[in-house]
Amino acid sequence: MSDPTTADTDGETMHHVRLSVNGATYDIEVPARRLLSDAVRQDIGLTGTHVGCEHGVCGACTVLVDGVPMRSCLMFAVSAEGQEVTTVEGLGDADGSLGAVQQAFKDCHGLQCGFCTPGFLTTITACLRDNPDPTREEASEMVAGNLCRCTGYQNIVSAVLRAAELQGAGCATKPEHAAQEAQA
Ligand code: FES
Ligand code: FES
Repeated sequence: MSDPTTADTDGETMHHVRLSVNGATYDIEVPARRLLSDAVRQDIGLTGTHVGCEHGVCGACTVLVDGVPMRSCLMFAVSAEGQEVTTVEGLGDADGSLGAVQQAFKDCHGLQCGFCTPGFLTTITACLRDNPDPTREEASEMVAGNLCRCTGYQNIVSAVLRAAELQGAGCATKPEHAAQEAQA
């Protein structure tokens, strides 16, 4: 975190933070207490990350920080400086087509209202990197930390297995910059 630079209209000390999100650099001025979820959505404008419980329970706000799934509602934006953040907007392929996990959710009807979906997509992307060929039980465990009020989870678990198939067939599960981060 940089030294405090300015104060907002309420007199709160603001900090200059440089965030790397989906391979792009963003310079923002935020108070030290600004949550990463709010910084991504409000300061950077990437509203694909959803905020549900704001208590680390539902998983809707999950982003990848240096490839690791993190509840962005439990992390301060200043803590993410110097790390690569990947949001749901960064999961597609470079040509604008859907990534493997996104395509699998479409194929398997893994969403209904879609509120929980960004958190599932980021979580599953990281889990398949660590276990690219899960059993159905392992796929179920991968998504056990995320809440969905619509689907009953069965189609989401099927989507995990479908994503593994697509990944095995050569469809990317993460953007190139995130893959490079994971290999570094
Ligand atoms: S909004 Fe972060 S875990 Fe629910
Ligand atoms: S699809 Fe509605 S909460 Fe999961």
